Amino acid sequence: MQFIFNKVNHNCPMSFVEYSELIQEGDVVIIFLGHDSMMPIKVESGAQTQTRYGAIRHSTDLIGRRFGSKVTCSKGGWVYVLHPTPELWTVNLPHRTQILYTTDIANITLMLDLKPGSVVCESGTGSGSLSHAILRTIAPNGHLHTVEFHAQRAEKAAQEFSDHKVGHLVTVRNQDVCKDGFGVVGIADAVFLDIPSPWEAIIHAKKAFKPRGGRLCSFSPCIEQVQRTCESLLDHGFKEICTLEVLQRVHDVRSVTLSLPDFGPEEGETDSTKITSDPAPEDVPPAANPSYSSVTCKTATPPREMAGHTGYLTFATKPRD
Ligand SMILES: C[S@@+](CC[C@H](N)C(=O)[O-])C[C@H]1O[C@@H](n2cnc3c(N)ncnc32)[C@H](O)[C@@H]1O
Repeated sequence: MQFIFNKVNHNCPMSFVEYSELIQEGDVVIIFLGHDSMMPIKVESGAQTQTRYGAIRHSTDLIGRRFGSKVTCSKGGWVYVLHPTPELWTVNLPHRTQILYTTDIANITLMLDLKPGSVVCESGTGSGSLSHAILRTIAPNGHLHTVEFHAQRAEKAAQEFSDHKVGHLVTVRNQDVCKDGFGVVGIADAVFLDIPSPWEAIIHAKKAFKPRGGRLCSFSPCIEQVQRTCESLLDHGFKEICTLEVLQRVHDVRSVTLSLPDFGPEEGETDSTKITSDPAPEDVPPAANPSYSSVTCKTATPPREMAGHTGYLTFATKPRD
């Protein structure tokens, strides 16, 4: 059985691929409550959304306001209302599966050579995290053919694409990519795989490419999956096979105070000739630093803990037929 979801809605200005100025009924907005605390909501006239700062009334607090506005909630606290982007969606979307995050997505988008007008095949759709980034990059005239064999996930993803006003750029197929392929042949500039057995889909990926070829990427958490995928890529004539892993270190910016060692007075130094070579920075009150025996400065510190392994990215080129 195959479902094809391909809904077109050009009427509403808010879209995940185009910026709009004012919030309208039906828009998806991101409520920013603080760092690491955001929530996506769909704007409906008459509706209310509860936050820890009180209620947001959609009709008065959202509709007609500018994206980016500071909105005061019923308990007096405030939030910012942000325009949705694929990056914000990735950290706010409802998880139906494991998802790809922006660090991997940025590399995938670049290394697949995606641009406006690109035609891309993807499987599985999963929670649509990568799909949204692909759609933003290939808009306004590219197309994404995404395959998901789990019926509810396929349906939910198609609904989200429609709600986010990108439905005209994507076709969601509910089928097994390893058995039935991508549902298209000879049209893709790029193919992306995030499934447990990507080596079984390589033959279908090869058929999906344009005669002039293109770029493929497969994401796998385990090295055994990578090995089987690379063997299959070689067997099917792919070139420039390369596997890499991307790790991100986010540095914290903070003020640190370093004590200066006291080596005693310089030779010939008197109180009147004493040089204070380490004047306190402007933002440190003299009382906090009376003798200039320390230096306070802003610095960026690497994280003590950081996100570890997500997966290996295997890239390859499908040469011209
Ligand atoms: C890890 S998730 C993909 C997440 C997605 N890349 C994202 O960023 O949200 C893998 C998805 O592939 C689907 N899947 C696994 N094997 C498949 C197959 N043979 N054909 C189609 N979909 C498949 C699963 O149902 C699951 O939804």
